[in-house]
Amino acid sequence: LSHNFSSTTSNNNAVQNIAVFGSGLMGAGIVQVAAQNGFKVTMVDLNQEFIDRGKEIINASLKRVAKKQHKDDAAAQKSLIESTWSNIETNTDSVKGAEKADLIIEAIVENLQTKQNLFQQLDKVAKPDAIFASNTSSLPISDIAKATRRLDKFAGLHFFNPVPQMKLVEIIKTNQTSEETYNSLNDVIMKMKKSPVISIRLVERGEASIKDVDTAMKLGAGMPMGPFELCDFVGLDTLKSIVDGWRKDGKIDASLVASAKSLDNLVESGHFGKKSGKGFHSYS
Ligand code: CAA
Ligand code: NAD
Repeated sequence: LSHNFSSTTSNNNAVQNIAVFGSGLMGAGIVQVAAQNGFKVTMVDLNQEFIDRGKEIINASLKRVAKKQHKDDAAAQKSLIESTWSNIETNTDSVKGAEKADLIIEAIVENLQTKQNLFQQLDKVAKPDAIFASNTSSLPISDIAKATRRLDKFAGLHFFNPVPQMKLVEIIKTNQTSEETYNSLNDVIMKMKKSPVISIRLVERGEASIKDVDTAMKLGAGMPMGPFELCDFVGLDTLKSIVDGWRKDGKIDASLVASAKSLDNLVESGHFGKKSGKGFHSYS
């Protein structure tokens, strides 16, 4: 079963058509936000029952958004809902659902084998230039990507629940994800009015910036300040004294209170955070 809009063509490489696999909690939210922001979206699931459930999730959420955005304007609410739906088509056939996509976002069950099977199949039928992205919460992107031959066009695109509400999206690069792919995904996320951050590990391992971590924790976990902002707010000299004290005390697991070079270096240079004008961040 399918509902179609005509395919669009473009003069440049910008993503226009997105296929979202999985119409559950996350998939439906991603479809909604993409369609609300002008992308043509195909929502794909295994059968019509799942598709209908996805449509219900979108309907309920869209109504809330429309009411919030246009409080006392019923016509504007209706227009937002209708224009969003005009950008959405559905398909229960994964081959047809993938055909015209410039970007495929996978939001199906959290199982490596199932995700690999899907991407292996999609690799054969999707446009050669199409970018593949997984919304996995926990699986290594490189393990999922292995099932395809487009390692340079494969990345993680980790939305947060509830998608229409949460402003954060993590873009997870593997060693093989190209800069071009990263830039395209960054562009898509900006158009969806979300804030992209590169996947977080430790700043000290050089895999994420201080800004990435602070943005992620504020927009993704609802913290009023990011952890580095909070350190600056508390005072880095004070923090160092606390951690050094705990380490000497020996009562807390040593790995939790190991000295942090970045903290020690800042304190040594007289950068104590907000009170001294510079810490992890600068304050004028
Ligand atoms: N679409 C869908 N659901 C919506 C929505 C929308 N547009 N707007 C609100 N909701 C949902 C909320 O989840 C909540 O659900 P219930 O009805 O079941 O209680 C309810 O509607 C409350 O909405 P309110 O408008 O009253 O609340 P709010 O707008 O002030 O805040 C919230 C809602 C932003 C979700 C807030 O509660 C919050 O930030 N919660 C924390 C969410 C969070 O931490 N998400 C990350 C989860 S981890 C993850 O996603 C990663 C992973 O891989 C597992
Ligand atoms: P869900 O169970 O609500 O939805 C999954 C959907 O995928 C179902 O409708 C199912 O029928 C469909 N599906 C399964 N196999 C399929 C296939 N081969 N083709 C098309 N559709 C298929 O799950 P969810 O909560 O939306 O999670 C989806 C993904 O997003 C998971 O990888 C999860 O880890 C990740 N994620 C979840 C959350 C969360 O808070 N729930 C947050 C971020 C990321």
